[in-house]
Amino acid sequence: MDSSAPEQAVQSRAAAATEPEITTVRSGSILRARMNRPAKKNAMTSAMYTAIADLLNDADKDDDIRVAVLHGAGDSFTAGNDLVDFQKNPLEAGDSPQARFTEALINFSKPLIAAVHGAAVGSGTTMLLHFDFVYAAENTKFQMPFVNLALVPELGSSYLLPAQAGHLAATEVILLGSPFDARRALELGLVTRVLSEQDVLPTAMETAQKLSEKPAGALQASKRLLKRASRELTAGAAKAENQEFSARLLSADAKEAMTAFFERRRPDFTKTKSSKAGLSKDAPPAGH
Ligand code: COA
Repeated sequence: MDSSAPEQAVQSRAAAATEPEITTVRSGSILRARMNRPAKKNAMTSAMYTAIADLLNDADKDDDIRVAVLHGAGDSFTAGNDLVDFQKNPLEAGDSPQARFTEALINFSKPLIAAVHGAAVGSGTTMLLHFDFVYAAENTKFQMPFVNLALVPELGSSYLLPAQAGHLAATEVILLGSPFDARRALELGLVTRVLSEQDVLPTAMETAQKLSEKPAGALQASKRLLKRASRELTAGAAKAENQEFSARLLSADAKEAMTAFFERRRPDFTKTKSSKAGLSKDAPPAGH
């Protein structure tokens, strides 16, 4: 493992920002990418989803890369979709940075390893369902808070979570939307191993090193076989989620949830009465 290699910026610096939001290090045939917005718990902007999707797509075509590792800077993996960005750049049904990110995860044919610590919320949890190895620190806080935000699951998780953890675990995680810890994630089959925080990235890199020494063709063919049955189902779920999610993002309930988050108060959903209510007049019905 070459953890001392310098981080490369893969995303142009935002005008006001001094740090690139995604950085990479290449060690031999291992690509390590880092989400790098620590002041915002690495919350994912559209630009960050696009940058990681591009990285994965490029790495997939690059014969010199055999394994990819993703981790987060500072005290967290990622707090998921950036809620400010969501309000500024509402998700489009169909093509969107999140849809491209999901597609890149589904299509990535090489082993994908996550080193997770701190907040792994929203897409910080759902993206992990696509990974082949997930090493989580004891302090990891997982959560799929979509329903609490008047939203629905994303990134193919409505298929992948019940497939990996079972229906009852999935309804608990998705419908209640409560946080859960690394031990519970291990019980649910969402992580490979729980480790102390300082061991997470080194262990991920050790596994990456072992994988990088294996015959690449057999490794990729084996991953392809393991994913064969679920690939189309995951892509179909992601498409349906994307329709529902983009409509609900414009709902009065979602606006209330996000405003409440930034005002650091509990949201009040009592003004909308039925399951259809809460969609603002501008919001297209899901599926259209
Ligand atoms: N989008 C935008 N900003 C976010 C964010 C997100 N998803 N998550 C955290 N931040 C920002 C906070 O607004 C805060 O910014 P500020 O310092 O300018 O006020 C900063 O990151 C630190 O977050 P804070 O809430 O103070 O840290 P915490 O340790 O108390 O809690 C979390 C961490 C991740 C549990 C909490 O921030 C959280 O629940 N975030 C929302 C996660 C979410 O709903 N994601 C899914 C969206 S679909």
